Amino acid sequence: MSDLFELDGKRVLITGGAQGLGNMIAQEFLRRGAHVTITSRTAEDSSAATAELGLIGSCTGLVADLSTIEGAVALADLVKASGEPLHILINNAGKSAGGPIERLPDISWPELMSINVQTPFTLIRELLPLLREAAKPDDPARIVNLGSFAGHALPLRPTYSYSASKAAVHHLTRMLAADLAASHITVNAVAPGYFSTRMTSAIPKDHMDEMPEIVPLGRLGRPDDIAASCVYLCSRAGAYITGILLPVDGGLSRARH
Ligand SMILES: NC(=O)c1ccc[n+]([C@@H]2O[C@H](COP(=O)([O-])OP(=O)(O)OC[C@H]3O[C@@H](n4cnc5c(N)ncnc54)[C@H](OP(=O)(O)O)[C@@H]3O)[C@@H](O)[C@H]2O)c1
Repeated sequence: MSDLFELDGKRVLITGGAQGLGNMIAQEFLRRGAHVTITSRTAEDSSAATAELGLIGSCTGLVADLSTIEGAVALADLVKASGEPLHILINNAGKSAGGPIERLPDISWPELMSINVQTPFTLIRELLPLLREAAKPDDPARIVNLGSFAGHALPLRPTYSYSASKAAVHHLTRMLAADLAASHITVNAVAPGYFSTRMTSAIPKDHMDEMPEIVPLGRLGRPDDIAASCVYLCSRAGAYITGILLPVDGGLSRARH
């Protein structure tokens, strides 16, 4: 019987896998035998990340701006044009915004709803034929959406548009899981707490420094934490799991603040 957590031969698309959480997930998927396609908005970042990830395993880099429907459709077209199967889609690319109610920029609403919610939906729709083809009753195709603890618990700082967009991702995940189960495609969301990435570098340093005292398990998230949650949901270990929201937050969403 093969390793419950191996991903040998699986073809995976990770949006925004050139850096941050997507890159952490890509590294572990490569170690487990998957072929990983990552995306970035610039050719330079895509090539640099592909070269580094290529030292671990088989990796392809694509350039995609996922802030519009057209961008999402164009990425799906590139993936289809490769002629390769697609077993796993990780909707990771995302954007955040924050600020008190009086100062939150209005533009953050359409921007975040577009990249955080509409793009994952459009990509799933456009890539469904490939995912359906790869799906088997005993080994479903997998979709993992990156949600956030801020989308299901009260965030520590005001992030209205971001939290609402991630709450939408969580519910979209449940709806798609119900609709795609008959096609043997699982759809799950992971909800990270605080990880050190470019996104969280926008959070004031004193706030991040306090985090180990606030997080019940006493630390920020590490690459292994986020990668393991996705490996679980995408390997044989997670074949019977669909429609869940998996918090990867050291207990933050269940803590008394
Ligand atoms: N870090 C955390 O603590 C945390 C917590 C909860 C949830 N999350 C979620 O995890 C995911 C990854 O976040 P991260 O922390 O790794 O953030 P990050 O370091 O800022 O990375 C964001 C990723 O999204 C991509 N991206 C941003 N705008 C894009 C656009 N218009 N078109 C295409 N790609 C775009 C970026 O690609 P390029 O810059 O290479 O183009 C990058 O790979 C996000 O969905 C985020 O909401 C993160």
